[in-house]
Amino acid sequence: MKIGVIGGGQLGRMLALAGTPLGINFAFLDPAPDACAQALGEHIRADYGDQDHLRQLADEVDLVTFEFESVPAETVAFLSQFVPVYPSATALRIARDRWFEKSMFKDLGIPTPDFADIQSQADLDAAAVSIGLPAVLKTRTLGYDGKGQKVLRSPEDVRGAFAELGSVACILEGFVPFSGEVSLVAVRARDGETRFYPLVHNTHDSGILSLSIASTEHPLQALAEDYVGRVLKQLDYVGVLAFEFFEVDGGLKANEIAPRVHNSGHWTIEGAECSQ
Ligand SMILES: Nc1ncnc2c1ncn2[C@@H]1O[C@H](COP(=O)(O)OP(=O)(O)OP(=O)(O)O)[C@@H](O)[C@H]1O
Ligand SMILES: [Mg+2]
Repeated sequence: MKIGVIGGGQLGRMLALAGTPLGINFAFLDPAPDACAQALGEHIRADYGDQDHLRQLADEVDLVTFEFESVPAETVAFLSQFVPVYPSATALRIARDRWFEKSMFKDLGIPTPDFADIQSQADLDAAAVSIGLPAVLKTRTLGYDGKGQKVLRSPEDVRGAFAELGSVACILEGFVPFSGEVSLVAVRARDGETRFYPLVHNTHDSGILSLSIASTEHPLQALAEDYVGRVLKQLDYVGVLAFEFFEVDGGLKANEIAPRVHNSGHWTIEGAECSQ
């Protein structure tokens, strides 16, 4: 089996380090000359929109996946004509956009902070009143490690905040006074078989995940599996999915999902029978 990976960075490298002992070969499509996964497979050095090289990748591999969710939707749509892509284009479209993702949580009855779509400063002014402060303004797409977001505590913070984040589509969400943050990494196979890793407690430092501790028999494991299972089923998901939650009032509120292996799951490399 040969798997094509869009992106040849650190997560692609880890995928290959785990997959190679299982007899899987890899090809990485990444424009960077020094893409760090290249030691572990073929490196197709091309832009993500380069259709000739995408076609070459599709011809060479049995299926395609990606190591980051900001892959252009057109890239996935193009590849999907020639080769199975997992997770699907639909899963990617939802997971990379905070508005789609939170709307799905709401539709599935999964608790999540109050949220509103923000397309202008006027939208933000109105939402700051309806949702209330403090609140968090986040760009709908391309945010990571706390980038592309701003906590709004006072009406002065609200003024001009839409422009401060680049005048791009955003969401405003209510600030959650959480007691902790946890994440669940799940995996679903093509036949629907689903497995969950133990819930992990996460600590952030300046918006960047700094410590993840996996717990055995966490009291919220079953609830987290219920919520994550709903999303996996809804999306007919294939692959690894990470789900971040806020722990609040003894329950969970959904923060976000990542359609891929996750930094809170790196412990599985040595700590679990099978690396994420
Ligand atoms: N609504 C909220 N209420 C309180 N804290 C929040 C809220 N949203 C985000 N945070 C804090 O900011 C952190 C980063 O937010 P979020 O996970 O949405 O962004 P991200 O940039 O995608 O992060 P990462 O790449 O680390 O997953 C959260 O882990 C949490 O500590
Ligand atoms: Mg996050």
